[in-house]
Amino acid sequence: MDRKRLLFVDDESMVLKGLQRSLRSMRKEWEMDFVSSGREALDLMQTRPFDVVISDMRMPEMDGAQLLASVKKDHPQVVRIILSGQLDREMTLKSVRLAHQHLSKPCDAVVLKEALAKTFALNRILSHTGLKKVVAQIDALPSMPTICMEVMEEVRAKEASIQKVADIIARDLGMAAKILQMVNSAFFGLCRRVTDIRDAVMLLGLDAIQSLVLSVNVFASFNRDKLGFFDFEGLWAHSLATGGYAKQIMQAAGQPRDVVNAAFMAGMLHDVGKLILAVTFGEAYKDLIQAAGENAPLEWEREKEVFGASHAEIGAYLMGLWGLETTLLAAIAFHHDPGQSEVGAFGPVAAVHLANLFERENGKVTGTTGCDVDYLKTIGVHRQIDDWRQRCADLQGEVE
Ligand SMILES: [Fe+2]
Ligand SMILES: [Fe+2]
Repeated sequence: MDRKRLLFVDDESMVLKGLQRSLRSMRKEWEMDFVSSGREALDLMQTRPFDVVISDMRMPEMDGAQLLASVKKDHPQVVRIILSGQLDREMTLKSVRLAHQHLSKPCDAVVLKEALAKTFALNRILSHTGLKKVVAQIDALPSMPTICMEVMEEVRAKEASIQKVADIIARDLGMAAKILQMVNSAFFGLCRRVTDIRDAVMLLGLDAIQSLVLSVNVFASFNRDKLGFFDFEGLWAHSLATGGYAKQIMQAAGQPRDVVNAAFMAGMLHDVGKLILAVTFGEAYKDLIQAAGENAPLEWEREKEVFGASHAEIGAYLMGLWGLETTLLAAIAFHHDPGQSEVGAFGPVAAVHLANLFERENGKVTGTTGCDVDYLKTIGVHRQIDDWRQRCADLQGEVE
């Protein structure tokens, strides 16, 4: 296996020494360089390739944001991580567009190793170098302009409610993903990963949400002229329903609240890769969709042939770069073919697979994708399929 190449940047030599010491055990797997300024980092990056840059934020001359902006421009495939102390809101907003992940200083060696190992493990989800480069450059996903407006209205309301704001955000893929990225950045010093939008909104606070919505580059509105071919409304509706069904299935299976919420979020984000394909490949993706026509459910196989990976892997890869929970990633990456995952027990992977299938059956998308019955047999839930399908259909009936 290739050794991973890591570059650490911090103006305090004590911090670098500490990192060097605590990561010594990884020397066989990781090739590590430690430099004390952004300039040195950029010079070194000219001479050889790196997989990830881990930088301090506050540094004299070139700060972390400036460094990462250069890295993003000149070495887009490199994963960018900020390792810093508490940041003010302005710095946070600045860095959320430039860094894929944030870790707080002082960082426990275990936490750091885990975050890096998780990032490197993403290569198992997406190995196509060209695609990884494209995906690593994405700093925001298109949001529904109407949903942005609704959030603003609610945030500004006299008695703004966290629950209402969370409910609105949860309906928008781009916003939900970005909010989870922010809250899972270690600014908040959390020892657990947040998968619930309500928890995320509560932790971030309504002021931060307002700044996020107002800073246009964090939630990019989509360009309707250029992306007119893509059915955004259809995707939003399908995603929301799939999230709701996944939640229903998990509840019927008697799963605990946090797992139920994770399944909802995974269902909501399972097709996020379609947004990435639409904004990155435009015309080529348009052709693919049009050629698939009635066979829409088989698009993902075509995507593999044309782009080198399907929307499932591409979406999971970006969500992984943004530091989202591993269970969410597996459910996104394997929603068409759960048998390919390494998950051998019932959970969000199976729930999202079925939810996506049931949602298509309910007529919003033509045709059906195949149900991986073998996988469901292996994890021992194949007898529940009909009951879960009925529950989801009932849920649909209630909405109508
Ligand atoms: Fe899909
Ligand atoms: Fe889907």
